Formats: sequence, C-alpha cells, structure tokens
Amino acid sequence: MLSNPSSIFLIPLFLLHLTFFTTPTISSPLHLHPIAAGPPPQRLSPHTSASGCTPLTFLVRATALNTVFLHPPDPLSASSILSFLHSSYSNSTGPLTNGTHLIGRGNRVFPLHATYCRPLFHPPGLPPRTLQVLVHGATYNQTIWSGLGLGHNDYDWMGMARARGYHVLAIDLLGHGGSSFSSSSKQYDGVTEIQPPLQSSVLHSLVRLLRHGPINAPRKGWRNPLPYRFPRIVYVGHGYGSAGLVVSLVRRYPRDLDGVFQTSPIERSGFNKSVVRNLVPARMVDGSERFGHLPLTYLAFRDGKEREKAFYAGFYDTASIPGEDFRGQGTVTVGEAVYYHAMETREEEEGVARGYRGPVMVVSGERDALFCASQSGRDDDRNERGSCKKKLVEMGKRVWPDAKKVEVYVARETGHTWMMHYSAKITMWRIHNWLDGVFRRKMKDEEMVDGGKDGKLGKLVMQDEAWDGYDRIELDGE
Ligand SMILES: *[C@@H]1O[C@H](CO)[C@@H](O)[C@H](O)[C@H]1NC(C)=O
Ligand SMILES: *[C@@H]1O[C@H](CO)[C@@H](O)[C@H](O)[C@H]1NC(C)=O
Ligand SMILES: *[C@@H]1O[C@H](CO)[C@@H](O)[C@H](O)[C@H]1NC(C)=O
Ligand SMILES: *[C@@H]1O[C@H](CO)[C@@H](O)[C@H](O)[C@H]1NC(C)=O
Repeated sequence: MLSNPSSIFLIPLFLLHLTFFTTPTISSPLHLHPIAAGPPPQRLSPHTSASGCTPLTFLVRATALNTVFLHPPDPLSASSILSFLHSSYSNSTGPLTNGTHLIGRGNRVFPLHATYCRPLFHPPGLPPRTLQVLVHGATYNQTIWSGLGLGHNDYDWMGMARARGYHVLAIDLLGHGGSSFSSSSKQYDGVTEIQPPLQSSVLHSLVRLLRHGPINAPRKGWRNPLPYRFPRIVYVGHGYGSAGLVVSLVRRYPRDLDGVFQTSPIERSGFNKSVVRNLVPARMVDGSERFGHLPLTYLAFRDGKEREKAFYAGFYDTASIPGEDFRGQGTVTVGEAVYYHAMETREEEEGVARGYRGPVMVVSGERDALFCASQSGRDDDRNERGSCKKKLVEMGKRVWPDAKKVEVYVARETGHTWMMHYSAKITMWRIHNWLDGVFRRKMKDEEMVDGGKDGKLGKLVMQDEAWDGYDRIELDGE
C-alpha cells in the first residue's frame, strides 16, 4: 500500500487546511485519495481513534553505549535477578558498573512498531504537519495513549490530539509491546541490550526519519513507511518515557525536538524505591502465552493491588480501570529498571537537558506515588498539590536550564497513570491549549520571516539546521 508514497505529495498542502479526511478505512489510510470537502468539524465525532489510524513498522539503525554491570545477574535464575534488582536499589551507590559496551555494531537494524493516526481535520491557525511522537512508560505500551484500548473516549489522548488537528505517532519502545523482537526475530537481552541509552539512540534515529520523510530514504536497512515529512516534532512522554530518555536525546541532539511534554516524570533522586519491590520476572506473573516466552530479565508487577497503589490515586474508576490495567500490563527489563541507579556519579550532569531551547511542559498528578508523594516523610505534607507543584517547578528549572519556556501543570486527585484518571480529559485539553499557543506564536515568527523582517530570521535558520542529513548517523555513539 505504500509502494508509491511519492504520489502523496501531489496533494497540495493547503488543501489540508480546509478539508477533511473522510475515509475511515483502516487498511489503507495513507492513500489519502478521498480528500474531499467533508462535514464541518463539529459534526465529526471528535474521538474516532479506530479510523484513520494504521500500524506501522519503522526500521532504524542505532548505536549506543550501554552500561556494563560489574556483577550482572544470572539471566536464567529468578532469584539472582531479584537479588540484583533489590541490591541495586539498596546500595547507596546503585549497582556497581564496569564501563560501557557498544550496542548496534555492524549496521544493526532495529524494528520499531508504532501506530500512526492522521488528524481529523486541519484547523486554521495551526501549521500543517506537526507530529506528536508519543512514548509510553515502563510496563505499558503505545495503547496507554488510547485509553489502554478499552474504548473510553475520556482517556483517549490520540483521539483528543487528532481532534485538535495533530498527526500522532504512538510507538512501542524496544523490548515493549510490538517492538519485542529483533530483526532476527529474537528476544532482546533484558540486561545488556534493552537499556535507556539504546532507547534514546533509537528515538533519535526515528526522529531523523520522521523529519526527512520517505523520499530520501537512507541507506539500506532503514525503512520509513510514513509518506510525510514532518518539520515539527513534539515529544510526549509518560513516566520512564518522559524522563531520562528524552533528556539524553536532547542533550546530544538539542534540535531533534520542537516541543517536549514530560508527563509523570520520574527522577532518580526522590524516586519511590518501594515500587521496585513489586517487580518480578513477568513469567512468574503469567506463564501462559502472554509472558511465558519472555526471558526472566523482563519484569512485571506481581500483584494488581500493588500496581494500583503505584499508579493510581485520588479519583478514578476503581471498579474497572486498575483491573484492566493489570490484566493488560506490559514489562520493563532489568537493564531499564536499574540503569538510572547505576549512574550515580554522572547523574547530576546527565540529568540536565542543557542546550535544548524549545518549549517544555511538565505535567504530573498531584498524588503520583512515584514522584510527587515520595519525598516528604510527613503525612500531612504528602499528596499535596502545593508541594507537588513546588517539586515540579524545581525540577523543571533544574532539568531544562536553556528551554525558552517551562510550564508546569498539576492534575488534582490524580496518580502516576494520569491519563486513566477522571481528570484525564481536562489535563489533555490543557496540554493541547498550551501546545496550540506555542505553535501559533511560532507561526507568527515564520510569517515575519516571510515578510522579510529580520531579527527572527536567525532563529528560523537555526531551526532549519535541525535537520542535518544522514551523513553523521554512522558515527552515532562511536
Ligand atoms: C551492592 O554492593 C555489594 C557490596 O558492596 C555488592 O556485593 C553488590 O554486588 C552490589 N550490588 C550490585 C547490584 O552491584
Ligand atoms: C571490567 O571489564 C574489563 C573489560 O572491559 C574486564 O577485563 C575486567 O575483568 C572487568 N572487571 C571485572 C571486575 O569484572
Ligand atoms: C511509594 O509507592 C507506594 C506504592 O508502590 C505507595 O504505597 C507509597 O505510599 C509510596 N511512598 C511514598 C512515600 O509516597
Ligand atoms: C499493549 O497493552 C495493551 C493494554 O494494556 C494490552 O492489552 C496489549 O496486549 C499490549 N500489546 C502488546 C503487543 O503487548
């Protein structure tokens, strides 16, 4: 269906401005042939996630310097894995490490599974072709961005984003969801391979593909199934996907992203370590087809009640959501779970996104047990919006020293998995209002440039330079 992607570009972009995508055909939404005048936007159901979305597999090359643990666990022994995990968190210095190890040699290709959805319409005032890249957290997959696939519109980020005119791409990180298998159909190593440095490097390669589009598809091995080129990439992460992964991405490539949303961020300092005690090899939770094939180094929550305490708080549908969440839970590898605790000496500087100059919004539930509720020892201080906000503001300032704008938003009576709480829709709405505002201002900058006004020109030229071709890819991590 993508055999002739270049035909897409025959559609003048301005058409996207005032017309609507009307085919809900899931099998070939990328053909785009039926662009025609449709009903006005208010008559379209704002949440029809199932239509206009398609699963895709990107192939990217990436290299990264993963950590070598000094006393790695025996991957075939559950008790060795658990004692490694627990002693990593109880050692004040984290696990002992012995240098780094280069992953991705020999032009290794990594398949990355994702779901792309086009916007329901293109509202005036927004530039076309802004893409949100959605990155899930630990023990989740891309479906966290569409209400865990349960069909409730109130929890559906993808639906909201599309209704607001954004293209969205929800990915499965390597070793998670549909990205579990390497190109040789093997499960990745959960200690040495699936670690944050590799994830960040893969994200960088993905961003390059997304910015470049399909036409100049790079050398053999890469694949970009999307027929568009997106000049503006907005990163939206949750939990693990919003913390170190995005910080190390923009530390190295400050111009990869045009906007960053850290939702439910977590940090090494102040991280609620008790959560780690609830992780066990996923196979021990469910040895049937769900997790039975996984190496023991892939971990999951052993108990639904414990998972609920870690991820839910305040106002949510207690009767159904946590149960569904536990039934559909994903995994996190040992390498991911302990990596940041191995970084004790370099952490201070590594955790700072120096050089990134775009806008940032930091969002958290006021009762996030992993972040907001985890520092104060005093009960009456805990779970308080005021103290959570203070902590977020402090983190925002420290982590994003060069960002042109850092906004903080705290959702009331909400826990870590904020998008499955009753406050979700309001939070999604607020985030999109902010995003629209930021990009409208950017639009004005561009118009001024077009009008020949200087001053703003330098800024725009810098943005254009964000894309600097593929020639350097081979050098990544080397
Ligand atoms: C924690 O420290 C002890 C003693 O210093 C060491 O034997 C153990 O291997 C450490 N744990 C990890 C995961 O490095
Ligand atoms: C650390 O790694 C080096 C090779 O990189 C190896 O020669 C050495 O034995 C390792 N040290 C320990 C204590 O395992
Ligand atoms: C840490 O997380 C657990 C859930 O795993 C929660 O019950 C506990 O209250 C949290 N601790 C703090 C200090 O917030
Ligand atoms: C992704 O997560 C959903 C919801 O938690 C789950 O039902 C589904 O099985 C997961 N998909 C994969 C491929 O793991």
